[in-house]
Amino acid sequence: MDKISIIGGRTLKGTVQVSGSKNAILPLLFSSLLADGEHVFHNVPDLKDVETSCLLLKHLGCELQRSGNTLKVKTNKLKSLKAPYQLVRQMRAGILVLGPLLARYGRAEVSLPGGCAIGTRSVHLHLQGLRQMGAEMNLNKGLIVARVKKTLQGKRILLDYPTVGGTENIMMAACLAKGITFIENAAREPEIIDLAEYLNKMGAKVKGAGTDLIQITPKRPLSPGEHTVIPDRIEAGTLLLAGAITKGHISVSSCVPSHLEALLLKLEAAGFFINIKGPTIELSSPPHFSTVNIVTAPYPGFPTDLQAQFMALMTQAKTGGVSSLRETIFENRFMHTQELARLGADVQLDGHTALVKGGTLLRGAPVTATDLRASACLILAGLRAQGETLVHRVYHLDRGYESLEKKLASLGANIKRLKE
Ligand code: EPZ
Repeated sequence: MDKISIIGGRTLKGTVQVSGSKNAILPLLFSSLLADGEHVFHNVPDLKDVETSCLLLKHLGCELQRSGNTLKVKTNKLKSLKAPYQLVRQMRAGILVLGPLLARYGRAEVSLPGGCAIGTRSVHLHLQGLRQMGAEMNLNKGLIVARVKKTLQGKRILLDYPTVGGTENIMMAACLAKGITFIENAAREPEIIDLAEYLNKMGAKVKGAGTDLIQITPKRPLSPGEHTVIPDRIEAGTLLLAGAITKGHISVSSCVPSHLEALLLKLEAAGFFINIKGPTIELSSPPHFSTVNIVTAPYPGFPTDLQAQFMALMTQAKTGGVSSLRETIFENRFMHTQELARLGADVQLDGHTALVKGGTLLRGAPVTATDLRASACLILAGLRAQGETLVHRVYHLDRGYESLEKKLASLGANIKRLKE
């Protein structure tokens, strides 16, 4: 297994470009199951999760062809309607084939995604919404066996919680249902808007994406289209935080600054200088910065996917200050704190709140990544720590970041991947 070695202490400078969004391309790829023909996606990031999604689509019978950042998906003749445990266990977003397969073929067998390091990751709201539309689902040896007698019916669905994946699954299924569907208390993430835009290109009429009420008017059949994936706001935020923790002056280009408002406001509140120039965000660092408190929340609140990286930054806030980071989305997303402690951080956990002491001296040490965003947190801390930090199990990192170490090295970091 690869490791990443960082010799801390360098101040990051320069400009770095953001790749396409992992959390946008995954549902987009599975939406291709809704329509026969060749779907073309541009700005597709080179990630393990994209690879796994392609394996799943191939397993179902799709033909895929990648050249550079363009990925073509042909979904003419499916040979299977079953998403096996082996693939779904590697990437929980595999559950997003359920809605499209049910809507298009009336049948689907999808492995119930297990939990993962950060929490139980239930999908009960996905199933509840699809059942409301007429799907019959049973659990048989860990497989969701789903059937629809005739076709899914458009319904008014009120989600107990604005689940991102649940909104996506129901939105996709609704595009081939009979009658209009309304999703209330829908997730508002930019990735939902991106998916809606592609569903509209395929011929559906999706209105209200980005708000908590989405209306989907179906169309049979849908046709394949072409789409450019939005930039990855979490990668952009991670790169900005890398600049911040090294007291650097960096620009992150090809992003959508409005997708990062919650983070930018917190960085400014801490004392960082943010300058927005079109698709580029420029960050410059003050000599010292203050602690700020965050509470993670569904978009447009502070993203849970940046909580771990922000924690690394807060260990370097003004000496004596303490910042509170409250995690409200996942029940176990503080595993990076024990690893940060190995580098010298002082983080006290109190239920879903982490109290992070500022002004701690970080010293390099071997650490182990436990999940995708924890890996990024440890790399950011390593950029500041004195001496060498060796991050183990970087396969977690490769699921969601395209050559992060190369991007950081291009900004001046002393970082390299040690291939095993
Ligand atoms: C998406 O996960 C993202 N993944 C996650 O990013 C992100 O953290 C999350 O949204 C929240 O923003 C992708 O888009 C592929 P949820 P998802 O359904 O869809 C509970 C990363 O690091 N819940 O909004 O799984 C669930 O257990 C990843 O890139 C139910 O209880 O998120 C969780 O606690 C991590 N029942 C919370 O809601 C359900 O039916 C949020 O889940 C659905 C969700």
